[in-house]
Amino acid sequence: MLSRLSQSIEPFHVMEIVKQADQLQQQGRDVIHLSIGEPDFPLPEPVAQALTQAIGAGKTRYTAALGLQELRETIAHFYDSRFGATVSPGQVVITSGASTGLMYACLALINPGDEVLLCDPGYPCNKTFVQTAGGVVRTIQVSEDNNFQPTLAEVQEAWTPKTQGILLASPSNPTGTRISSNVLNDIVDWVATQGGFIIMDEIYQLLCYGSQPRTLLSQSPSGQTRDHCVVINSFSKYFGMTGLRLGWMVVPEALLTPIEKLAQNLNICPSTPAQWAALACFKQETLDICEARRAAFGNRREFLLRELPNVGLHAGSNPDGAFYVYAHAPYGSSQYCSDLLQTQAVCTVPGKDFSQKEGEAMFRISYANSLERIEQALQRMGQFNCREI
Ligand SMILES: Cc1ncc(COP(=O)(O)O)c(C=O)c1O
Repeated sequence: MLSRLSQSIEPFHVMEIVKQADQLQQQGRDVIHLSIGEPDFPLPEPVAQALTQAIGAGKTRYTAALGLQELRETIAHFYDSRFGATVSPGQVVITSGASTGLMYACLALINPGDEVLLCDPGYPCNKTFVQTAGGVVRTIQVSEDNNFQPTLAEVQEAWTPKTQGILLASPSNPTGTRISSNVLNDIVDWVATQGGFIIMDEIYQLLCYGSQPRTLLSQSPSGQTRDHCVVINSFSKYFGMTGLRLGWMVVPEALLTPIEKLAQNLNICPSTPAQWAALACFKQETLDICEARRAAFGNRREFLLRELPNVGLHAGSNPDGAFYVYAHAPYGSSQYCSDLLQTQAVCTVPGKDFSQKEGEAMFRISYANSLERIEQALQRMGQFNCREI
């Protein structure tokens, strides 16, 4: 009776370990979470106020399927003012989080049997989006030597006559690493010559450290158009609005009507109060709050990367974005993360959620927790890693 898709979907293993952590907490243990892909900060105050006002003013009815015109205009303007990228409001689609954007992009671009390239390690839900559209996942095993991002040669090697496109993320989850602009431009241009598409997940775009945020929508040096690219973004991470379920996509003109029909049929519209609240995200006072939070994430990242070797751990590659460090596990990561949780009450995520092939070698540490808690967690990890065996 059950569909093959519903039976083949893999669980999110992180949920399992978080469930175990909750049980320990109920038993009175002081669990430190370095597991969650969610900012530990509350909703920025101007956004919280705008949300309350929207609900108070009865702004709770359906909006257009593509979203509030005001918000589409504001986002288009933000690309211009922040990145110098020309985006028309008509290309912006408001979605219920990046998740819905990824789903719409896959449903609009993939036919049953089409191959789509995904990076391993990568965000686990991507394969489900591709498979829901009937697509077949082909993985590119990205390496630590290349910052866990694909090279043009790897894309060319993985591409077959059945391949229709590639889904990329920068900064990536779980690695926190970014693709270089040069490599990305080369991939974008080459995929265009193959008639393929690119879905670019920029959900962590504004959370990067050391150098400026980038978007694929900036001018291509080769002058190649970007009509084959769909950019996905979200209010979840930088703006700390995970539970409000709001994101956006920037799509080429040709995809607008198909995506509008998908949105009308599958979701009607994104949350109306959340859309009104999101308008406050682009006020200077909110951006200032979010930038201060980015700086706090940056300090935690620096602290973590400096201290990890002192507790016998090593980060893979250079995580300069998001709020994750993908680190080498001292032994099989499923067992290691379970042992860390049971003995030290520190909750991290084993790599098997993100990588089919090398997941046991790695685990993910999230620094979406206070510096104080991260420091305590590292002390506990040090005690565990340096114990007499
Ligand atoms: C890489 C990546 N893409 C997409 C999502 C989905 O985010 P949301 O639907 O909350 O915008 C996540 C969530 O963790 C993510 O890490």
